[in-house]
Amino acid sequence: MTDLSVAAQHMPEHTAQSGIGPPLWLLAELTYRCPLHCAFCYNPVNYTDQQSELDTAQWLRVLREARALGAAQLGFSGGEPLLRDDLEELVAEARQLGFYTNLITSGVGLTDKRLGVLKDNGLDHIQLSFQDSTQQLNDFLSSTRTFDLKNRVARSIKAHGFPMVLNCVLHRYNLPHVDKIIDMALAMGAEYLELANTQYYGWAHTNRAQLMPTEEQLREAEAVVERYRKEIGNRCKIFFVVPDYFETRPKRCMNGWGSVFLGVAPDGAALPCHSARSLPGLTFPNVRDMSIADIWHKSDAFNRFRGFDWMKEPCRSCEEKTLDLGGCRCQAYLLTQDPANADPVCDKSPHHESVVRVVREAAQRGAGGGVALAPDEQPVIFRNDANSRKLSGQISGQISGQPNTPTPAATDKTSDQGARR
Ligand code: FES
Repeated sequence: MTDLSVAAQHMPEHTAQSGIGPPLWLLAELTYRCPLHCAFCYNPVNYTDQQSELDTAQWLRVLREARALGAAQLGFSGGEPLLRDDLEELVAEARQLGFYTNLITSGVGLTDKRLGVLKDNGLDHIQLSFQDSTQQLNDFLSSTRTFDLKNRVARSIKAHGFPMVLNCVLHRYNLPHVDKIIDMALAMGAEYLELANTQYYGWAHTNRAQLMPTEEQLREAEAVVERYRKEIGNRCKIFFVVPDYFETRPKRCMNGWGSVFLGVAPDGAALPCHSARSLPGLTFPNVRDMSIADIWHKSDAFNRFRGFDWMKEPCRSCEEKTLDLGGCRCQAYLLTQDPANADPVCDKSPHHESVVRVVREAAQRGAGGGVALAPDEQPVIFRNDANSRKLSGQISGQISGQPNTPTPAATDKTSDQGARR
């Protein structure tokens, strides 16, 4: 969860260079390794192409340089950040530097012992993911048996006195369970519940047809959330954002490219958003070779979509461009093959039909019935190394200008069997 108001409170004195503010939010993706295999993971589909990880000393330098530049909120993410045994050391350094820190985790590996050390070392906040309120769907969507473990971890997080965000990615399979998911969050004592409707990047884009809900499902879930908000007041703050495929104006993605967000991938690539690596024609600077200040202020990748000069019509002359900044560059690329186009979520875009068609197809398919597939339905492609390696060749084709939608026929079916249970 991005809470930039918290970040602003912790911002040190900083003189911005060249009129560009500081990267308030630093996301440290410590590793792409993960014990879960979620069908909607936002990591790059071809993550297996990047094997090397920054070492502890390199991460410590990233934290120090980013903090000196004005970064205030720090998320430790992945993959699963608990797979790094230097996490506790990085948290301690972050606390000493004055960051507000958040651990974004599946819970796998979050033992009582590690929770105690993380607490002692100054970790501020934990975001724990669930895939659903039921064991069946939680375990199906992550392709693991982790539901009971996550319940135990949630209790331990609260026992150690951490504020907790429960995060649940929503889609066609679990939208009908929103009331149960809220009940689960309340029973666990979560201070925040992030009901994150799927954004269609990475693995979620690969599985878009399987995950896309109907508009009816969304509106019903929204009504349930509204009802709960009235009933529970401040007991738990619920975030619910409608996926932008169902909107007619795009989101102000990352609050603007190179505006407040700096992501560092496990191999040290610096990214202006989680999905930027999928964009063609951009070379992302690496923290092994460049200082964070030079990356933020001088690199072509971070400057490419700042401001308005890069815009094409209809954005360039649009009176709303200062509100949404043309929307999401990654979505523009995924749906129009040109990242400088207007985000086709906007109904002023000549490509808006590409979004409408997906929503229409979801409506025609209907809500479906649980995890069972209709006979003509493609199975879900789970995030795992074998599927990543198989899909990465197709991604290379896309980047070199030959759009090619990954097909299940090209992927490992072993973990797809759960879709048919
Ligand atoms: Fe990359 Fe929106 S996710 S700009």
